[in-house]
Amino acid sequence: MPTRPLAAAYGPLLMLLCAQAMLVGVAAQDSQAGVQVAMPQAFPVRFFVVGDWGRASDSHPNGYNQTRVAQMMAKKANSAYGKPHFVLSTGDNFYGFGLRNLSDPWFTQKFTNIYKGPGLQVPWFAVLGNHDYGETSYCTPDEITSPLYQLDPALRKRDWRWHAFRDRKLSLAGGQVELFFWDTTPSSSYNYYTCSGGFKGGIRTQSWPNNVVWLQNQLAASKASWKLIVAHHPPRSSGRHGGSSEVKYAVESLIRKYRAQVYFAGHDHDLEHLHYQSSSFYKPNYHTIVSGGGSRRYTEGFGYDDGVPSDDYPTDPYSVWGALTDGFVAVTLKAQEMVAQFYSTDYKNGTMAVHVARIPHLLKPGPDLD
Ligand SMILES: *[C@@H]1O[C@H](CO)[C@@H](O)[C@H](O)[C@H]1NC(C)=O
Ligand SMILES: *[C@@H]1O[C@H](CO)[C@@H](O)[C@H](O)[C@H]1NC(C)=O
Ligand SMILES: *[C@@H]1O[C@H](CO)[C@@H](O)[C@H](O)[C@H]1NC(C)=O
Repeated sequence: MPTRPLAAAYGPLLMLLCAQAMLVGVAAQDSQAGVQVAMPQAFPVRFFVVGDWGRASDSHPNGYNQTRVAQMMAKKANSAYGKPHFVLSTGDNFYGFGLRNLSDPWFTQKFTNIYKGPGLQVPWFAVLGNHDYGETSYCTPDEITSPLYQLDPALRKRDWRWHAFRDRKLSLAGGQVELFFWDTTPSSSYNYYTCSGGFKGGIRTQSWPNNVVWLQNQLAASKASWKLIVAHHPPRSSGRHGGSSEVKYAVESLIRKYRAQVYFAGHDHDLEHLHYQSSSFYKPNYHTIVSGGGSRRYTEGFGYDDGVPSDDYPTDPYSVWGALTDGFVAVTLKAQEMVAQFYSTDYKNGTMAVHVARIPHLLKPGPDLD
C-alpha cells in the first residue's frame, strides 16, 4: 500500500532530477547548464554577427528595413561560405523596449518571420541592449517590459534558435575558443531611468561592478587561446553614440591583462572595424567589430552629421574601416586567424564583402608588467 503514494510522491521529483542531470550532461562544455544545442567542436568555426535589428516593418524616413539585411544573411549562408554554426546578436533585439510578455507577437514578427532563410536555422546567441531593458524614460502600461522574458528558456518553445544571456560563457572548438557574453547596459547611469528600470529583472536590479568582476573572473580562469567578448556597447566607435567610456575604462585593462583579442558590439547602427594598439606596454592590443546595422542605418557618425561634415561625431583614431550602412559581419575562425567579412546592403547582391578584417591569433601586447 505505501508504495503507491511513495511512487506518486517521488515520481515527479525523479523526473525533475533526471531532467537536471540531462541538462548538465549535455551542456558539459558550458559554464552553466541550460544550453542544449550542439556547439562546433573543431576549427574552422563560422558565425554571423548582427545587432540592433528587431524592428520588422517599422518605417522611418531613413529606411529601416530588417528584411533587407536578413535576406543578405540568408544569401551568404547559402554561398560557398556555408551555413554558419550560429549567429551572435549584439543586442537591441526587440525595439522599441524589449518583449512585453512570453507570448509577445513581436518575437514572431521581428525574429522568427524575418530570419527565415534555411541557412539561418541555427542557434542564435544574444546579449541584451539598452532597448531590451525598456528604453523609454516614461511609459504606458503596454511598454512595461522585463529583460527576463528574453532570457526565459520558454521562448525556445516558440523558436528553438533563441538564446539570450546576461553574463555567460560558452566554449567551442574543444575549449580553444571562449565567448564571453557580457551585459554592458548597467554601465551607464542613463539607463537607470528607463521606464522598466525598477520592474522585475530591470536595470535597477543590476550591478555594473558585479558585471565587471564577473568578466574579470571568467577571463582570469580561461584557458582558451581565442577569448572573444560579445556585448552591446562598444568601448570605442566612430558612430553616432561613439564609444562608452565606462565600458572602455572597465574592459581595456582586462583585455590587456588576459589577452582577449576581439570585442564584438552593436549600439551604433553602422559597421566598423577598429584596431586599438599602442606602443605603450601598458596598453592593450585588440580589435573591436561593431555590427549594429541589423535594420536601421545612421546618417550621423564618422565625422558627418546627416551627411554634412561635422566635428560632432569624430572618427576614432583607431578606426580601420567603417561605414554608415546597415548590414552584418560573417566570421570564419581558425586556430591562427580570424577572418571577419563585412556586408553592406549598399551591395545588394550580398556577395561582396565591403571590408575584410584579418586578425591573427597572436597579438603582441608587450610583457605583462602586473
Ligand atoms: C525591405 O526589403 C525587402 C527586401 O529587399 C523588400 O522586398 C521590401 O519591399 C522592403 N520593404 C520596404 C518597406 O521598403
Ligand atoms: C502580451 O503582450 C501583448 C502586447 O502588449 C498583448 O497584446 C498580449 O495580450 C499579451 N499576452 C498576454 C498573455 O499577456
Ligand atoms: C555584386 O555587387 C558589386 C557592387 O555592386 C559588384 O561589384 C559585384 O560584381 C557584384 N557581384 C555579383 C556576383 O554580381
